[in-house]
Amino acid sequence: MNTQTINLLITEAEKARTMAYAPYSNYLVGAALIVPSGNIYTGCNVENASYGLTVCAERTAIFKAVSEGQRHIDAIAIVGAPLNDSSSDYAYPCGACRQVMSEFLPASGDIDVIVAKSTEDYKIFKLSELLPNSFNL
Ligand code: THU
Repeated sequence: MNTQTINLLITEAEKARTMAYAPYSNYLVGAALIVPSGNIYTGCNVENASYGLTVCAERTAIFKAVSEGQRHIDAIAIVGAPLNDSSSDYAYPCGACRQVMSEFLPASGDIDVIVAKSTEDYKIFKLSELLPNSFNL
């Protein structure tokens, strides 16, 4: 992952976060992923009055990409924090989203997962670090 791509993904995730629909938790999340062609897909969290129907930002982005024919993710950036609170920790992807990511690994290798507060402040993990021994058929 070069710095330019990292910065682009974080910037796109920040933009996607502005679309978050989170009136129940007030926790706004944006995600942006890049596929081998270089295309970028973004998503935000979408909550519901029936709380369990909420979809995370990462899965929104992944389902958008897959529904447009993509099958491999090279990297995904996640930006999440409560509304009007910049002092919170990095937004790590939930377990469900990690499992969904594991379905769409690059042809060889691993997914880079970038958790970011800004383009100046982020951490990068391999998905296999965040989800060792993932379930696969
Ligand atoms: N959320 C995400 O969008 N991604 C995650 O990985 C964890 C949680 C959302 C779901 C819900 O709208 C809000 O954050 C609080 O849980």
